[in-house]
Amino acid sequence: MKKPEIRKTVQLGLLGLGTVGSGVYEIIQREARAIEVKTGVHLVVRKICDKYLSQTRRAALPRGIFSPDADALLNDPTIDIVVELIGGIHPAKEIIEKALKRGKHVVTANKALLAEYGESIFGSAAKARREIGFEVSVCGAIPIIKSVKEGLISNNVSHFLGIVNGTCNYILTRMSQDGMDFDAALAEAQGQGFAERDPRLDVEGIDSAHKLAVLARLAFRSEIPFGAVFVEGIRGLSVKDIRYAKELGYTIKLLAIGKRLKKNLELRVHPTMLPDNHPLSGVRGVYNAVFLHADQAGDLLFYGKGAGKLPAASAVMSDIVDIAKKIARNDRTDALTGIRPGTIPVLPMKDLRSRYYLRFQVVDKPGVLGRIAQTLGRNHISILSVQQKESHDQKSVPVVFLTYEASERNLRSALARVDLLDDVTEKTVVLRVES
Ligand code: HSE
Repeated sequence: MKKPEIRKTVQLGLLGLGTVGSGVYEIIQREARAIEVKTGVHLVVRKICDKYLSQTRRAALPRGIFSPDADALLNDPTIDIVVELIGGIHPAKEIIEKALKRGKHVVTANKALLAEYGESIFGSAAKARREIGFEVSVCGAIPIIKSVKEGLISNNVSHFLGIVNGTCNYILTRMSQDGMDFDAALAEAQGQGFAERDPRLDVEGIDSAHKLAVLARLAFRSEIPFGAVFVEGIRGLSVKDIRYAKELGYTIKLLAIGKRLKKNLELRVHPTMLPDNHPLSGVRGVYNAVFLHADQAGDLLFYGKGAGKLPAASAVMSDIVDIAKKIARNDRTDALTGIRPGTIPVLPMKDLRSRYYLRFQVVDKPGVLGRIAQTLGRNHISILSVQQKESHDQKSVPVVFLTYEASERNLRSALARVDLLDDVTEKTVVLRVES
């Protein structure tokens, strides 16, 4: 390869040398020269900071590059881009704000921070006229942020459905394909190295809600108050309902759903029944996918690895190189951060209209189904199908209803009554159905 003429050296400060951080470091060691040929930008890792790095790993780094203290990186005037890969809200928030104030650009994987404090972080970046790259924060290797921000720039996105948490998708796949129980599947998923340090963030749907908020902000050009996102995880899900759904021709996925309605946004994360022929139904294991509809482009499907060392590092590199190219061109427009969103109100969950799967557990005697159907009818819920399942349990039998579209408010008031009936032996299981 002919030695390129270097047009600009861009120096990086790497904060966090965990899985993703070491992937980024490795890629830079390996690919810096190729990137230089492609872009004219010479990337140099100037400092690495990681409080928890072992002595052995510290010793393996080039002399003078390591510091246990983030200030060493923030105080270094030669660092152009701070790459924050430590996660969590504090001290990441304070470090990013400091970096921006000191004129550094930022690349971050921190979906929790962007979802919960996005308005303030993006505000600080705009004020400092610096970039925030966050491609890796949603769906790891999949270039969904760049696609929405740049590839679909002339479009209006009407809705997206995303499988954005690999851990949950792995658990659901194992439960559905192999009848495995939840805890065993979770332990296996953790073994794959995708799970959050605190796996409650995964299984309770919070990680998915963070990614939903980050993506929705861009897709709908609106600030997203994180508290307005409805979140329900997969912990309570039973293999039984996964099986009954399958018998009806549906697959259960934990979906992050964003929809632009006339006056509102619908933003929700919950286990969802999808018809087996939906493109997302075939997404298995730790893979992520987003199905998105935009007015000009039409239907789009994004698929790939949502986490892992090199897949995630690849997305971080995309931001680093984009920002480095801007630095090289002395381009001060804030094209990456530069969506100035308004605020579209989020539809309260009780106003949602959806189809539902309902599993009642009832005493098998005359009149019970009639009373349930009557209560649903009184609450304007129309029944599409009913199936009583065989049961070896003497005390009760499962009865599965599919409804036509109904309002969540009406459903909740119907179920509040049904669950009080003497012949209903357990709390009714509710799953929303998407078509
Ligand atoms: N815990 C996440 C997942 C990893 O399972 O998808 C990346 O956000």
